[in-house]
Amino acid sequence: MRIVGIADASADLARQRAEAAGLTAMGLDELLASEAQLILNLTPPQVHHEIGLKVLHAGKHFFTEKPLAATFAQGQELVALAREKGLRVGCAPDTFLGAAGQALRALIDAGTVGEVRHGTAQFMNHGPDHWHPNPAFFYQPGGGPLHDVGVYYLTHLVNHFGPVVRLRSTSHITHARRRVPFGPCEGQVLPVAVPTHVVTQLEFASGPQIVLTSSFDVWTHGHAPMELYGDDGTLQGADPNQFGGTVRHNRQTGDWVRAPGGRPYTTNSRGIGLIDMARALQEGRPHRCSAEMALHVLEVMDLALASGRDDGRPVTPSTTCERPAPLEGRLS
Ligand SMILES: NC(=O)c1ccc[n+]([C@@H]2O[C@H](COP(=O)([O-])OP(=O)(O)OC[C@H]3O[C@@H](n4cnc5c(N)ncnc54)[C@H](O)[C@@H]3O)[C@@H](O)[C@H]2O)c1
Repeated sequence: MRIVGIADASADLARQRAEAAGLTAMGLDELLASEAQLILNLTPPQVHHEIGLKVLHAGKHFFTEKPLAATFAQGQELVALAREKGLRVGCAPDTFLGAAGQALRALIDAGTVGEVRHGTAQFMNHGPDHWHPNPAFFYQPGGGPLHDVGVYYLTHLVNHFGPVVRLRSTSHITHARRRVPFGPCEGQVLPVAVPTHVVTQLEFASGPQIVLTSSFDVWTHGHAPMELYGDDGTLQGADPNQFGGTVRHNRQTGDWVRAPGGRPYTTNSRGIGLIDMARALQEGRPHRCSAEMALHVLEVMDLALASGRDDGRPVTPSTTCERPAPLEGRLS
């Protein structure tokens, strides 16, 4: 792959990044008219739809940061347009391609703890208020703990178990306004338009029932990021927002056993989903961070919030997806 250029709504920012990385700064229209075949979109979720439509109308493949779009309806429009034009859409997160995600998937697929029946996944922190230079968008539709970070957990779970067939949630906007406590935006008051604590019970087509908690209201906690309970033992996964980490299992009353090492992508490898999509285009095979999986995950997240608004009413997604192929070695 060769990077053709970099664009931003702010020409100054594009120039700064281009200078720092030895790239060519362009206007967005210039980039869309360039020889680039694939555009990587790193804008906030609220503009993913707008940028995606422009990219696809320009006849280019589109790989976007998560979530696919701010709403399921927007995501559907993007995927439908890509299909119509014979173009590909790919979407972060790609962390499930990391060493820890793939090690856990291999243990599940090998039946290491028997049939997995239940599980818990926990993303809980105090939000991006005190470290992000522009935290307001995290509290608008398309943001919030579920769409911003729960999306990593959900994508890992879909990679492990396939599509969700039923779910229900409780959710709260714990504080209607948040005052940034410290950091670059100290004192700024952020209006909150999305739930900041969401508990979702997920039922997967392949059987497991898993409770996912996504919160921006918790300073610290002591839970494992992911635990899966099987007929013969327990699997413990690493943080789905990272590529590496400890994965272990036990059988019945036995001791914990660490998953074997040696897998690639143990450290920050953001971008391997994009590389996999470029390789897939060249090799004529499906890419792993697929449009179908991202659209399914987006629908599940939107339905989780809808269920939360409706006293936890059970809901059924209309979309489904295939599990991505496992990744055994390095992407060349
Ligand atoms: N910050 C993180 O740690 C992180 C990690 C993983 C994923 N993400 C995802 O990356 C995306 C961006 O997050 P961020 O933290 O980098 O945001 P950011 O606000 O720091 O950067 C977004 C950039 O997009 C530009 N932009 C906004 N609207 C635009 C438009 N219409 N056309 C062209 N450029 C436009 C802005 O000028 C800005 O430079 C989000 O989807 C987020 O979920 C962020």
